[in-house]
Amino acid sequence: MRGKFITFEGPEGCGKTTQSKLVMEWLKSKGQDVIWTREPGGTRIGDAIRALVLDPEYGEMVDLTEILLLSASRAQHVKEKIVPALEAGKTVLCDRFVDATLAYQGRGRGMDWQLLGTLNEIATEGLMPDITMLIDISPEIGLKRAMEVDKAEAAAGEADRFEAAGGDFHRSVRDGYLYLAEHFPERIKVVKSRATVDETQEEIRRILSDVLF
Ligand code: TMP
Repeated sequence: MRGKFITFEGPEGCGKTTQSKLVMEWLKSKGQDVIWTREPGGTRIGDAIRALVLDPEYGEMVDLTEILLLSASRAQHVKEKIVPALEAGKTVLCDRFVDATLAYQGRGRGMDWQLLGTLNEIATEGLMPDITMLIDISPEIGLKRAMEVDKAEAAAGEADRFEAAGGDFHRSVRDGYLYLAEHFPERIKVVKSRATVDETQEEIRRILSDVLF
């Protein structure tokens, strides 16, 4: 049987990486065959694209270059990793996918929604998540958190190209995500980022249990 495809989305610093990895541990403990992956990235080529797209050194990158790179990473990821895993019956947990494009490039950068939809369709060959967990957080708190994580991970603690995009950009991204959730309530489930990691995780497991078991 084809595996389930679950994506995690949300504004910067919402905790989706921590939460999706906890979901992986939970599903593994239930005996499921599960992989965790992310975008941009997830493959050797995708990781090289990720480094390029996030690098604040490339401040001159125009919006079209950005979306074509992100789409290239996605095409490689879907073909090389996601579809083969799903066909092998694995559950695939993916940290960001097509909704990020509509929120960041659509709402954040102001690119044409229809063009982005077409690029998503081409890159994914029509593959959509079975369910998407949207972890919602106010952009102010989220960005602060993301910068703290950066500081802990790299001595420099420098903002990546998206983190550096400013408050208005990130408020638009969040609005974009909430707009998507409103329009696709069957697929996209909104979870408020709670005071603790455990509380948020509990809510995510409750929602996923309905879909998976
Ligand atoms: P993250 O892994 O920390 O979420 O970083 C990935 C960054 O890439 C994040 O700032 C959002 C951005 N991004 C887009 O702008 N569009 C996309 O389609 C994807 C997948 C990510």
